[in-house]
Amino acid sequence: MTNSDTKAILTFSDGSAPLEMPIYKGTVGPDVIDIRKLYAATGMFTYDPGFMSTAACNSAITYIDGDKGELLYRGYPIEELANQGDFLESCYLLLNGELPDAAQKLEFDYTVSRHTMVHEQMQFFFRGFRRDAHPMSVLVGTVGALASFYHDSLDINDPRHREVSAIRLIAKMPTLVAMAYKYSIGQPFVYPKNNLSYSANFMHMMFSTPCEEYKVNDVLVRALDRILILHADHEQNASTSTVRLAGSSGANPFACIAAGIACLWGPAHGGANEAALSMLESIGSVDNIPEFIRQVKDKNSSVKLMGFGHRVYKNYDPRAKLMRETCYEVLAELGLENDPLFKLAMALEKIALEDEYFVSRKLYPNVDFYSGIVQRALGIPTALFTGIFAMARTIGWVAQWKEMISDPEQKIGRPRQLFIGEKTRSVKPIEQR
Ligand code: CMC
Repeated sequence: MTNSDTKAILTFSDGSAPLEMPIYKGTVGPDVIDIRKLYAATGMFTYDPGFMSTAACNSAITYIDGDKGELLYRGYPIEELANQGDFLESCYLLLNGELPDAAQKLEFDYTVSRHTMVHEQMQFFFRGFRRDAHPMSVLVGTVGALASFYHDSLDINDPRHREVSAIRLIAKMPTLVAMAYKYSIGQPFVYPKNNLSYSANFMHMMFSTPCEEYKVNDVLVRALDRILILHADHEQNASTSTVRLAGSSGANPFACIAAGIACLWGPAHGGANEAALSMLESIGSVDNIPEFIRQVKDKNSSVKLMGFGHRVYKNYDPRAKLMRETCYEVLAELGLENDPLFKLAMALEKIALEDEYFVSRKLYPNVDFYSGIVQRALGIPTALFTGIFAMARTIGWVAQWKEMISDPEQKIGRPRQLFIGEKTRSVKPIEQR
């Protein structure tokens, strides 16, 4: 970041002295006003619930231009990464800042594949859950539990420890997500196979049984890989900020990622793909769309068009375009072009894109509008969709966590507040209250 020649000057109508604050420029995107001295100089905080105008860190990982509908990982457009490379290539890029050459890619793939197994003791954590537990609750628990197994790599101040933990998290997430699924349906856990690609191995752990091996279908594996690439990082979203905040206290990376998973679970964030599919199922048929849209527009109802709208994208989500393409490919491969839910989704998308309510609010489909349909076609149960998102986003969380730990400006995250409660008062004896 560089200093701008322009300064921000904050003036007050009560005649208090104005305050000059530096402005910094990034490489692209909005400049920021450095308000760090504001409290010391004025005794005031800024008020910004939801971080609508607040940059909480500087970062060189992911850039989004919400008005243009642009998403870049380390400067590379998501379209090029999704069309030309695989998920582990994006992982390498997010983690290390540059794309790997052929030898680096081979080595990285090899290293990740050598960390895919989890400690055999982990199965007992799974067995403690009810079979019908939500996979996100299982993942919060089991990912956090990983910290108990890797005391050899928990020193966050040691770069080598950070590296090893990062690889372990990326490598073990598919194993844990697949274990959560197998446990929920009462099938035996399937061990990873290291000669398969990252995504093919996940499909194997999900769909093989001791009696029958999963036959790798390249179109379906490629679709899953694309879901992972598109969800890998998304700058300072709610779960990433959660990971950063948890990590700012010096907590170990497994604990931080477990915190990220908890945040991702919410329906306004990672839970949206599950919610979008449930919404389509509850609408049921194209004839019911007008009534559904009426409810969405009704200020007194809490109904939302799930899979539409985004805090940052005020244009078509670039990930949604790619996911829409994948949706067509997967349904064609499986002969499901006439799938009623897909037809319903397309009709709903068309109506919403032409409706004044959505147009005037710049509400466009986001990636989750389509990713649920793709995942359902891949055979992934609805309850596991957010788990797949967590598996993809783990690399983003880990890369952002690593960046934060190495940032000399990093401090423990400690937001302030505008206090609106009672002033000091005395406790009366209970009989006088
Ligand atoms: N359906 C109906 N109305 C909507 C929707 C929606 N999906 N999204 C926003 N609006 C309306 C909202 O009611 C408000 O209208 P008004 O100005 O009349 O009060 C206006 O649009 C602005 O909305 P907002 O709530 O201020 O926007 P936000 O930036 O705070 O919310 C959001 C972003 C993603 C939480 C919201 O769009 C939403 O809840 N969408 C549905 C859930 C969803 O698909 N989430 C996935 C996001 S992408 C994956 C991820 O990153 O996790």
